[in-house]
Amino acid sequence: MTRPQQPPGLRHSRILGVGAYRPRRLVPNSEIVAAIDSTDEWIQTRSGIKTRRIASDDETVTSMSVAACRTALERAGVSPYDIDCVIVATVSHLLQTPAVATLIAEELGATPAAAFDLSAACAGFCYGMALASDMVRCGTAHNVLVIGVEKLSDITDPTDRGTAFIFADGAGAVVVGPSDTMGISPVVWGSDGSKYDFIRQEVAWDDAFQRDEATWPTLRMEGNPVFRWASFEMAKVAKQALDLAGVGVDELDAFIPHQANMRITDAMARSLKLPPSVVIARDVADQGNTSAASVPLALDRLIEDGQVSSGDRALLIAFGAGLAYASQVVTIP
Ligand code: COA
Repeated sequence: MTRPQQPPGLRHSRILGVGAYRPRRLVPNSEIVAAIDSTDEWIQTRSGIKTRRIASDDETVTSMSVAACRTALERAGVSPYDIDCVIVATVSHLLQTPAVATLIAEELGATPAAAFDLSAACAGFCYGMALASDMVRCGTAHNVLVIGVEKLSDITDPTDRGTAFIFADGAGAVVVGPSDTMGISPVVWGSDGSKYDFIRQEVAWDDAFQRDEATWPTLRMEGNPVFRWASFEMAKVAKQALDLAGVGVDELDAFIPHQANMRITDAMARSLKLPPSVVIARDVADQGNTSAASVPLALDRLIEDGQVSSGDRALLIAFGAGLAYASQVVTIP
């Protein structure tokens, strides 16, 4: 494999530390099946999900993020004062403005770091990683916090058969900083707005509240087309990311896809012809699909369980509403 050349004048970036926050409450399939006329067996067979984490009232987008960041900072050995930018990937911070990133920076003691939210749904964390990596490489920032956080239970309809068993809550965070070697490869990313409606907020806020009877907007998904798109198209994107990083599948240690659905993960692993030595993240089984939080949560789980070690190479890919996607190869800190 030919390694990509670093343009002159740019330094490298890497993940310095990873942290996660998983809500206390585990909700098994048995608790949700009645409302959607489903069964534990159907959900497990179609999605691989056995149980999911659902946040309580005191576990907010802000508090979950702050907890995940504190762990990531401690593991990175970086003080909050040395963070120059906080990027929060989320679709479930319910205030249109201001960005929750500013509040998280304040609560961490990271002010006056630049802080902003990023809306790329399930692809958001990998989008944030791409931005953070380029900021560090260009010298715009020395250390960047990238957070993927969702409280999807706030915007999920518990009676919707297509989404109620999938979505869940949690937060994951990484510190991205400078490196002597390439610890985050160039991103392969994109979007396909012809599929804009496949995963969406059902009604816009203005429509929701101008109706005779106010409606709380929740998520809707065309499950089958999303499944086909993700299973067939995303493996190609992941392959491009490997090629761009100059990493062959035999040099890979872990595959950490967006934890959308176990069948999508299996289909991508087959298309990529991953050897048995590659560890595959399967966090969705007891965490559910946490959109922007799913990749850092799955990354944290592999580290915590000792399934990956420092220096290992992991292929990340995230995809979802938009439809938007992003993939890169990272080195485990
Ligand atoms: N429980 C039980 N039965 C259900 C059901 C549910 N929650 N939802 C649908 N069904 C039934 C349908 O009524 C249909 O029954 P029929 O064959 O008698 O008509 C059958 O199951 C198949 O429906 P379909 O919608 O084609 O299911 P599917 O095989 O596509 O599985 C998903 C549904 C949602 C699991 C699947 O499409 C999927 O995983 N999509 C991707 C979702 C995803 O990961 N999104 C995240 C991307 S960010």
